[in-house]
Amino acid sequence: MWLRCTSRRLLTPFNRALKHGRLNASSWSGKVAAVMPEAAGFQGVTDRATLQEFSHAHSDSFWAAMANHRLTWTSAYDTVQDCDLRRGKVKWFVGGKLNVSVNCLDRHVLTCPDRVALIWERDEPGAEVKVTYRELLEMTCRLGNLLRRRGVKKGDCVTIYISDALAERIRDANSSTVITVNQGVRGGKMIDLKKTVDAAVDTCPNVRQVFVAMRTETPVVMKDRDVAMEEEMAHEEAVCEPAAMDSEDVLFMLYTSGSTGKPKGLVHTQAGYLLYASLTHKYVFDYHDGDVFGCVADIGWITGHSYCVYGPLANGATTVLFESTPIYPDPGRYWETVQRLQINQFYGAPTAIRLLLKYGDQWVHKYDRSSLKTLGSVGEPINTEAWEWYHKVVGDGRCPIVDTWWQTETGGICIAPRPSDPDAEIVPGMAMRPFFGIKPVLVDNELTSKSASGALCIAQPWPGMARTIHNNHQRFIETYCQPFPGYFFTGDGASRTEEGYYQITGRLDDVINVSGHRIGTAEIEDNHCSAVAESAVIGYTHDIKGQGVYAFVVLKKEADITEPELRQQLKDSVSKSIAKYASPDYIQIAQRLPKTRSGKIMRRVLRNVVERDLEGLGDLSTLDDPTAVQEIIQGHQALA
Ligand code: WTA
Repeated sequence: MWLRCTSRRLLTPFNRALKHGRLNASSWSGKVAAVMPEAAGFQGVTDRATLQEFSHAHSDSFWAAMANHRLTWTSAYDTVQDCDLRRGKVKWFVGGKLNVSVNCLDRHVLTCPDRVALIWERDEPGAEVKVTYRELLEMTCRLGNLLRRRGVKKGDCVTIYISDALAERIRDANSSTVITVNQGVRGGKMIDLKKTVDAAVDTCPNVRQVFVAMRTETPVVMKDRDVAMEEEMAHEEAVCEPAAMDSEDVLFMLYTSGSTGKPKGLVHTQAGYLLYASLTHKYVFDYHDGDVFGCVADIGWITGHSYCVYGPLANGATTVLFESTPIYPDPGRYWETVQRLQINQFYGAPTAIRLLLKYGDQWVHKYDRSSLKTLGSVGEPINTEAWEWYHKVVGDGRCPIVDTWWQTETGGICIAPRPSDPDAEIVPGMAMRPFFGIKPVLVDNELTSKSASGALCIAQPWPGMARTIHNNHQRFIETYCQPFPGYFFTGDGASRTEEGYYQITGRLDDVINVSGHRIGTAEIEDNHCSAVAESAVIGYTHDIKGQGVYAFVVLKKEADITEPELRQQLKDSVSKSIAKYASPDYIQIAQRLPKTRSGKIMRRVLRNVVERDLEGLGDLSTLDDPTAVQEIIQGHQALA
């Protein structure tokens, strides 16, 4: 069994790769080493452009060097990768063993135990809690011991609850343990999370126990299956022997929307994910030892996983967990937090930037932002106005903006500027260049991959990519590997300039993006109330949210409900089963929906109507009954 005290000796730096003949040390290049110390030793690589090419062409040597340099292994892997994108097979660092918490905590406790690992930026400004690496390791050990004592074994799935649509996820994941808090606190409001958990867990017979932490002082009813988490943790030892995990053991699952109603549980594994999160965190944000890294994303989103938790902690950073909202108690909250915590890299979503720019520059100017070095954007395209404001007003024109393109599926950032490169150019509104080892291709309708615009695919596997969809590998293959055989298909469209810079143009499938939250239109459509016969949901351009939700509903003939009642019912139902942000902004009641003769709703037509692009309606010849379009147009005019 792996012993905690041996972790130091087990560090397997660059030498191992050299010893195993994976690298050639003879052409050590100071120039590359200055940009990326891990890359020293690649033969013939003398600058970052060739490093980029090298990481594409000699992907295995590149990733081997990175894995050896950046991760602490319990036992070495024997194969760098065993992947076949055609068959949806993805395995990295096969045969290796490691422990993620050792990589994120123990090894930093050896070198800098009193460095602050995380700053919990609580909802109330000025009430932050700082936790050092030593303390975080102790808390982790206590919780680990408690989980072990309560029968949670290696390989078991534990659900941590901070988002909605809980019961379905618990059942799909087959979780026996749920961790939650009595109440959540956000923007000055209390949210009764425990109550939601109680209702969900009542329908999940597999759940044996619910750990309840106390975020507020409001008592909650504790059932037989409930465990008072902090009280029990206090009785546990502060030392817990870490398990040695296979590189390809599951690390976590995150549920995300696809183009059909059922969310997909995307599976990420240990070594490859951790390596990719740590490497991108360092090079995209130009993170340096001692920096305070402020990613204000929700922790339950992949962005929170990769850039609040795994990436920064693997790099020994001080990371901020932001609990509040951009406008609580006022629209200066982000910048007041930047000043108070001396944040060096700030990472947020365009939807928040668009919201804040409407409140005016004075909220930004009020606070000192001189600690800021890099500003990041994630989740949706950032429009030029927001980009300029972020750059000029928030960053005083001196901080590079990194517009980072990636997905839950990719595990970490795939296309983004890299300000760590000495002469990196950044064009507003562009995600710019692929990360090391990422090889994008744009495939057009003729399936030629040399095109300058088209479906964004990635031509070779990388360690951070998702391995499968939980319980449905076939769906993984069909969604990502089959549309363009041999490539990983992202679902997004993109274009490329002559310089090789990428711009993301948006989703190609029926997935919309509201305030950075990704929602399948079909998920919203699933929320029929009893009066509704069928519905079609589309996204439309929204000033602040990026996209808003517009629902067309056809009522059942016998429906006996007033329009205001119907609207309220639909909004309530969507808020409850998905989340408030998914609730429709507009609900248009229609006699029928435009459909093809094969019965497929023509969302393209609905989008044209809502975006008032009637000239773009184009060919309606496949419609079953073209007069349906006229009705839709009239209904829309009446509503708007
Ligand atoms: C969109 C978020 C344009 C895209 C990390 C992608 C973006 C989906 C950007 C993934 C960006 C994310 N520019 N679009 N910089 N970043 N997207 O899984 O459509 O929540 O496929 O992961 O968001 O959303 P997800």
